[in-house]
Amino acid sequence: IKNIAVLTSGGDAPGMNACIRAVVRTGIYNGINMFGVLQGYQGLITNNIIPMDARSVSNIIHMGGTILKTARCLEFKTDEGQDLAFENLKAHNIDALVVIGGDGTFTGARRFAQRHQINVIGVPGTIDNDLYGSDFTLGYDTAMNTVVEAIDKIRDTADAHDRLFFVEVMGRDSGCIALRSAIACGAEAVLLPEKETSIDELVKQLGAGAVTKKTSSIVIVSEGHKQGGAYDIAKHVKERFDHYDTKVTILGHLQRGGSPSSFDRILASRLGYAAVNELLKGSTQMMVGLRGNEIALTSLDEALTEHNFKLESDLLEMTHVLSI
Ligand code: F6P
Repeated sequence: IKNIAVLTSGGDAPGMNACIRAVVRTGIYNGINMFGVLQGYQGLITNNIIPMDARSVSNIIHMGGTILKTARCLEFKTDEGQDLAFENLKAHNIDALVVIGGDGTFTGARRFAQRHQINVIGVPGTIDNDLYGSDFTLGYDTAMNTVVEAIDKIRDTADAHDRLFFVEVMGRDSGCIALRSAIACGAEAVLLPEKETSIDELVKQLGAGAVTKKTSSIVIVSEGHKQGGAYDIAKHVKERFDHYDTKVTILGHLQRGGSPSSFDRILASRLGYAAVNELLKGSTQMMVGLRGNEIALTSLDEALTEHNFKLESDLLEMTHVLSI
């Protein structure tokens, strides 16, 4: 392997820049010519591929977003798009690819490596923390810190006004951010994509809090919750229980931005370093992840077929107990 390219794809996640830095510098240290692909798979198709050196990645370890830009590219799902992408890589003599992203990114990478002669390693980068084979994905820790900081602030004003807040958090169809932020913020209840919610039970629980003189309540709603988002649930609850003045906050994309936490910077550096070393050993169609503080390899197949976030029902029970 002489020429390696790196790209970021799908939703950005804090730590992607730290990972790009690690990939580029590990490659250069090993005498590899390094390239960056701009705008994810879109840039492969449009030949937006640039050479990178050690200085191209200076002073980015602390930055959110991704200097390589990212995109959700529909054309890469087609044979024509993939063939064009391969031709462009060949024109640069690129023989291996590091892709940083989530399940959509890995699905594209797996198909690409199956159809064409190219070695691919995936690095899990998504705030959703929903890839099998890594205890943590890049950006999850930073996003959690952002969510916790935001909800702590909401708690201040909720308490000052004796209000009930419904706070919607990201995670697509994974309730990981919702459940764990509920614990970290002492939320009164959490509504998850993985579990049906009884509005009656929720109303009962909020009512019990009111009786025991709770001055504020926070209900975290995961965006993937099947019975509706924060506005819908707030409306249903309000129809049956109007003890508190009720407000809704959607945290939205602020959860994706910001400087990566030290945890994410270290994780990104370890995974980027490991990704290049694996390519140099000849590995392909694998994801590098962290399991029990050790670097672990998982096939892209496995990372994609096994959903990582199995509802942690003990934690769910605990949120209930600790919020009485
Ligand atoms: O996968 C990361 C994520 O932030 C999800 O939590 C969310 O559902 C989705 O991306 C939003 O994507 P977009 O920025 O394309 O709207």
